Amino acid sequence: MRLFLFFWLVTSIYSCLAAAPPRAIAKRGSSSFVSSSSAGFSVNGSSLRFVGTNLYWLPTLDSNDDIWNMLKNISDTGIKVIRIWAFNDVDTIPENGTWFQLVQNGTTTINDGPNGLQKLDTVIQMAEQQGLYVIMSLTNNWYPFVNSTATSTPSPDVLATVTSPPRNTLSNDYGGMDLYVNQFGLQNHDAFYTNNEILTAFQNYTKQIVSRYLNSPAVFSWELANDARCNGTLPTSPTCTTQTITQWHAQMAAFIASIDSNHIVSAGTSGFQCTDCPKLYPITPTASPTPSPAPGKKRNKVTPLTKEQVIRQRAESRRQNRAAAKRAGTLKEDGVRIRGRWVSTATREVSSSIGPTTDGSTGVDSQDILNIPNIGFGSFQVFPDQNSYAPDDPNLSPVQNKIQSSLTWIQQSAQSAAAVGKPVVLNGFGLVTQSNLNDFVPFNMTYAPYASDTAVVTARSGFAGSKRQSSSSDYADDSDQESGYSSFLQMGNSAGLAGVMQYQWGSTGVTQTSSTIQLDELDTTNSPASGATLVASPNDGYSIANNPAIQQILQQGAQAMAQNS
Ligand SMILES: *[C@@H]1O[C@H](CO)[C@@H](O)[C@H](O)[C@H]1NC(C)=O
Ligand SMILES: *[C@@H]1O[C@H](CO)[C@@H](O)[C@H](O)[C@H]1NC(C)=O
Ligand SMILES: *[C@@H]1O[C@H](CO)[C@@H](O)[C@H](O)[C@H]1NC(C)=O
Ligand SMILES: *[C@@H]1O[C@H](CO)[C@@H](O)[C@H](O)[C@H]1NC(C)=O
Ligand SMILES: *[C@@H]1O[C@H](CO)[C@@H](O)[C@H](O)[C@H]1NC(C)=O
Ligand SMILES: *[C@@H]1O[C@H](CO)[C@@H](O)[C@H](O)[C@H]1NC(C)=O
Ligand SMILES: *[C@@H]1O[C@H](CO)[C@@H](O)[C@H](O)[C@H]1NC(C)=O
Ligand SMILES: *[C@@H]1O[C@H](CO)[C@@H](O)[C@H](O)[C@H]1NC(C)=O
Repeated sequence: MRLFLFFWLVTSIYSCLAAAPPRAIAKRGSSSFVSSSSAGFSVNGSSLRFVGTNLYWLPTLDSNDDIWNMLKNISDTGIKVIRIWAFNDVDTIPENGTWFQLVQNGTTTINDGPNGLQKLDTVIQMAEQQGLYVIMSLTNNWYPFVNSTATSTPSPDVLATVTSPPRNTLSNDYGGMDLYVNQFGLQNHDAFYTNNEILTAFQNYTKQIVSRYLNSPAVFSWELANDARCNGTLPTSPTCTTQTITQWHAQMAAFIASIDSNHIVSAGTSGFQCTDCPKLYPITPTASPTPSPAPGKKRNKVTPLTKEQVIRQRAESRRQNRAAAKRAGTLKEDGVRIRGRWVSTATREVSSSIGPTTDGSTGVDSQDILNIPNIGFGSFQVFPDQNSYAPDDPNLSPVQNKIQSSLTWIQQSAQSAAAVGKPVVLNGFGLVTQSNLNDFVPFNMTYAPYASDTAVVTARSGFAGSKRQSSSSDYADDSDQESGYSSFLQMGNSAGLAGVMQYQWGSTGVTQTSSTIQLDELDTTNSPASGATLVASPNDGYSIANNPAIQQILQQGAQAMAQNS
C-alpha cells in the first residue's frame, strides 16, 4: 500500500506536469520580455526551458574582453540563463575594484561610475548581444563572518600573516543584508526585513537598478534576495518567523511590480519549506493567481507537500535501500529487532522531526512565498555538502546519501511549486569534490575549513582546533560528480522544472594579471604547458574551470531541456 502510494505520488506529479499545455501562454506571452505562466516561461510566444549557470563575480572582472569571452563560451554550451549578483555594497570606498553602493552610517550612495554600475551595464549589454538572459539577484543573506573577540587566539603574529581572500572573491563578500544592519546601527539579521529605514534604503537601491534596465529584454527576472532566511551571519531575534520572510517578499515584489511591468519578480530562496506553518497566502481553488488552463486541459491537481508524505517517502526509500543492500549482501542494520522483524529507529526519529529543510526552522516557507501574487516563479537550491535534505541512510555511502536526498528534494520542490501552479527553477546546484576540497568555503564562512594548511584555517576561523575533521570519502570523486550532475539535470527535466542552473561557472581564460578578486591559481599538473601560469576565475569549491566533462554534461542537459519544452 505504501509502495503504491509512493509511486502514485511520483507518477502523478509527472503526469500532471506532462499534461500541462506546452503553449498555454498568458497575455504577455508574445512579448520579447520573458514572461511566466502556469505552463512555464515564454519569450515572443515560444516556450523557454533552460539550463543555466551562476557567476556572481562576472561584473567584477577588470577586462571587458574577458566578460565577453566568458559569455560567448557559456552561450556556446547551449546555456541560456546566467545568475549574477546585481549588488556590490561596501561600508568604505575601496581603493581598487568594483563597488555599486556605499552603505555607511545610515546613508547610501550609489556609484554609477566606470567601476560601479557601468560594469553591470556592460554585462547586460553583452548578454543582450549574445541572446543570454540574466537573473539579477538584489541582495544576499550571507556576509563574512568576523569573530571580533578572537584577536588573541591564536597569537596575533599568526593572524597578521594570514588574510582572508580579497573582497568579491567569495559569494558572501558583496555586502548584503548584514552590511545594511551593521550600518544602520542595528544588531539582528532579521532587522533587514522589518526596519523601515533599511527597507527604504533597499527600495531606493532596487528602484535605481530596476529603472536602469527597465527596457532590457536580457533581464530574466529581479530576484529579491539570495537565500533569504531568519538566520544570517548576525544573530536573529526570537520574533522572526516564516511570516516575517514571506511578508518581506510580498512587500518587495509589490514595490518592483509598481515600477516595472516588463520583468518577472522571483524569490531566490533556497527552497526551504514549512509543511505545517500557517500561510499568509493559502492555496485556495478560487484564489489561484495563475491563468486558466487551455480549453480541454484539466487544472493542475498536485497537492502541497505534507509532513506525512515526507516521512512516508523517507521510510519507503529506506526500505528500498535496505532491500538492495540485502540483495548485494552489504546490509547494515540500523534498527532494533522487534518480534523477529527489524524496525528502523531512524523512521521513528524522522516521525517526530522532519528537519530544517521542511519544518520551517530556517524561517522560510517557499510555498507561501511562491503564492504571493507578484512573484512569478520560485527557486530552490541543491547543495548537499552544506544542507542535509534527509537523514543519512546507513545502507548508502555518504556520497550516495547526498545524491539520493538531493533527487528527492528536487521532486519535493517540483511538487510544491506545481501545487501553487507556478514555474520553479533550481537556481544553483553543486557537489564538492575531493579535488576541490582545499578550496571549499561554505556560504556562511570566509575560510576553507577543510584546507590542508591547518595554521591558515585556525587563524582565519579565529579559534584554535577548528579545522574540520573530514574524510575524503565523504566527498564525491570526479566520476561521482559527473553522474550526480547528470542525474540532477535528468530529474530536474523529468520533474518538470522550468530551469536548472549549475553553480558555479569557471574559466581558465581570465587574462587580467592584477586583480581585485582572488583568481584561482590552478595546480600546474592541470596546466596545458608545464611552467605556464594559469589563472582561473574564483573557486569556492564549486568552480568547473578546466572541467570539460562537466561542461559537456551541461550541454547535453541543455539540449534535453529545450527538446522537452
Ligand atoms: C522577439 O521579437 C523581437 C521583435 O520582433 C525581436 O527583436 C527579438 O529578437 C525576439 N527575441 C527572441 C528571443 O527571439
Ligand atoms: C590598488 O591597485 C594598485 C595598482 O595596481 C596597487 O599598487 C595597490 O596596492 C592596490 N591597493 C589595494 C588596497 O589593493
Ligand atoms: C553617523 O550619523 C549620525 C547622524 O545620523 C552622526 O551623529 C554621527 O556623527 C555619524 N557618525 C559617523 C562616524 O560619521
Ligand atoms: C537613494 O539613493 C541616492 C543615490 O545614491 C541617494 O542620493 C539618496 O540619499 C538615497 N535615498 C535614500 C532615502 O536612501
Ligand atoms: C570567537 O572567538 C572566541 C575566542 O577565541 C571563541 O571563544 C568563540 O567561540 C568564537 N565565537 C564564534 C562564534 O566562533
Ligand atoms: C538561528 O539563530 C538563533 C539565534 O541567533 C539560534 O538560536 C538558532 O540556533 C539559529 N538557527 C539555525 C537553524 O541556525
Ligand atoms: C555554517 O553552516 C554550516 C552548515 O552548512 C554549519 O555547520 C556551520 O556551523 C556554520 N558556520 C558558521 C560560522 O555559522
Ligand atoms: C573560452 O573558451 C576557449 C576555448 O575553450 C578558451 O580558450 C578561452 O580561454 C575561454 N575564454 C574564457 C574567458 O572563458
